[in-house]
Amino acid sequence: MAVVTGLHDFSGATPFRPVVAVMVLALILVPLYLIGQIIYNLYFHPLAKYPGPKSMAATRIPYLLMLLSGDAPGVVTRYHEKYGSVFRIAPDELSFITDGEAWKSIYGTRPGHSQKSKDYRFYNPTVGGAPSIIVSNDTDHTRFRRLLSHAFSDNSLRGQEPIIQGYINLFIQRLHEISEKGTKPIDLVSWYNFTTFDIIGDLAFGESFNCLKNSNYHPWVSIIFKNIKAGAYVSVARRVPGGDFLKRTLTPKSLLRAKAINDKLTMEKVDARVKQTNNDRPDFFGNILKYNGTSKGFAHRELYSNGSTLIIAGSETTATLLAGATYLLMRNPEKLAKLKAEVRSAFKNESEINLDSCNQLHYTQAVLTETLRVYPPVPVGLPRIVDAQGDTIGGNFVPGGTVVSISHAATYKSESNFKYAKQFIPERHLDDPEFANDNKEALQPFSFGPRNCIGRNLAYVEMRLILSRLIFNFDLELAEPEFDWIDQKSYTLWEKMPLMAKLIPRDMTQSA
Ligand code: HEM
Repeated sequence: MAVVTGLHDFSGATPFRPVVAVMVLALILVPLYLIGQIIYNLYFHPLAKYPGPKSMAATRIPYLLMLLSGDAPGVVTRYHEKYGSVFRIAPDELSFITDGEAWKSIYGTRPGHSQKSKDYRFYNPTVGGAPSIIVSNDTDHTRFRRLLSHAFSDNSLRGQEPIIQGYINLFIQRLHEISEKGTKPIDLVSWYNFTTFDIIGDLAFGESFNCLKNSNYHPWVSIIFKNIKAGAYVSVARRVPGGDFLKRTLTPKSLLRAKAINDKLTMEKVDARVKQTNNDRPDFFGNILKYNGTSKGFAHRELYSNGSTLIIAGSETTATLLAGATYLLMRNPEKLAKLKAEVRSAFKNESEINLDSCNQLHYTQAVLTETLRVYPPVPVGLPRIVDAQGDTIGGNFVPGGTVVSISHAATYKSESNFKYAKQFIPERHLDDPEFANDNKEALQPFSFGPRNCIGRNLAYVEMRLILSRLIFNFDLELAEPEFDWIDQKSYTLWEKMPLMAKLIPRDMTQSA
C-alpha cells in the first residue's frame, strides 16, 4: 500500500522522482547558463570592444591556468605584442602596457579619483589573517605606512648601514673562502639570498637567519619560497565557487604545510622582538613598538602580518635583482668590463665603499636600473579595481568595477617604450642620445603612487654595496654559458634556478 505523506508519495515505486527532475533540470539549465554567460561575455559585455584572445574574454579559466603555469609574464608580453597597449585578459579584466600615463590613472591619485582598491583575491593571505601594509584598506594602510616610514627614512638608513655592511663583509669573506679552495663554480642565487635574508631578518626581528654564518639556507627561508608559490594556488582557488575546498585539494600538501610553518615561525620571531623592550636599534619595529598598546600603534596580530610581509618583500626581491644583474653582466662581458673599470678606479681600498661613495657610481646605478627593466623582480601586473564611476585609462573609458593592471614585464619589453627593448643596455640610462626617445616614465619597477615600494631606498643601498663590493673583489664568469638562466617561471616573483658562476679573486697587484 502506498504511504502518502502530504505532497510526496513514498510508496517505493518512484521515490526519487523530484530529485531526478531537479538533476535533469540542472543538467539542462547549468550548461545553458554557462553558454549564455559566454555569449554575453563575448558580445554584450561592456568590455567586449577590447581586443584579446576570445578564450580569455569568454571565461576566466585561461587566466587562472596561466597563473598556475608560472608563465604569466611571457604570455602577457606576447599578447601585448599581438593586440597592442591594452587587451582583455579575463572577462572583467584588462591588462595595460603604459607609456607612463597609465601608471598615474591606475596606481596614483588624481582630482576626482581616489586610490583604486587592490584586488585582494590576487594576494597571499596574511599571517594570522590581520591586515598588513600590502593587504589593507586605505585607513589601515595609512596607519601602517606612517609608522613604518620612519624605519625607511634617510636617517634610519644611515643608522642601519653598519648592520648591512656587517653582513656584506661576511658575504665577501665566505666567497673568498670558497673561491680560494679551488675553481669550483658557486651558486650566486643562494649567496645573494643568504645575504639579503640575513639583513632583513636582522632589521625586522633583531636577529639574522644565520644563513651566511652556516653557509646554508635557514629552513624558514626555504619555507618562504614555497609559501610564495602557494600564493598562486590560493589566488586561483579564491576566484572559483567552492574555493576553500579547491584550495585544500588543488594546493600541493607540502605548500600548505609550508604556509602553516611560516605563520608559526613569524609569530615566534615577532613575540621575541616585542619582548626586547630596551632595544633602540634603528630596525623596522623600533618605532612601531613605541606606540604599542595605543590606537596609533599596531594591534598584536598586525605585528605578525606586517613582520611576515617585510621579510618576504624585503629579501627575495633584492636578491633577485642582484642575481639578474650578475647574470646579465656575465652574458655581456663588455658591460661587465665597464662596471669593473668604474668600481676599481673609484676605490683603492674596499673600506672606502660605503653608502655615500656608492652614490657616485653612475655606471653601477645604470646597470641596476637596466636590470630592473630587463628582469623586473615583480614582473606581473598588480591588479586594481576601477572606481564605481569608471575612469579613462590610456585614452580608453573603462567601466567601474573592471579589474586593471600594468604588466611590468610587458611594458618594459615593449619597443614602443624602449629602443632595442629586449637587450641589456645600461647606457640608455646615462643620457646616450641614441636612447633619447626611451620612455623613462614607463619604468616603475617599485610601482607607483601611495602604495609604491617603501623599501626602495634600502633596496638601492643594499644592491649598490653588494654589487660594487663583489666586483671590487672578484672577476666573474658564467659556469654554464649554454644555459638560459633568465628563462624562468614566475609565481608573482620569479622562481629562480641556481646561477652557477666562477669567481676568480681579483689580482690586487693589477690596476682595473
Ligand atoms: C629590488 C627590490 C624591490 C622591488 C623591485 C620591489 C618592488 C615592490 C613593488 C612592485 C611593490 C608594490 C606591491 C603592490 O602594489 O602590491 C612593493 C611594495 C612594498 N615593498 Fe618593495 N621592492 C623591493 C625591495 C623592497 C625592500 C628591500 C623592502 C624592505 C622591507 C620592501 C618592502 C616593501 C613594502 C613594505 C611594500 C608595501 C608598501 C605599501 O603598500 O605601502 N621592498 N615593492
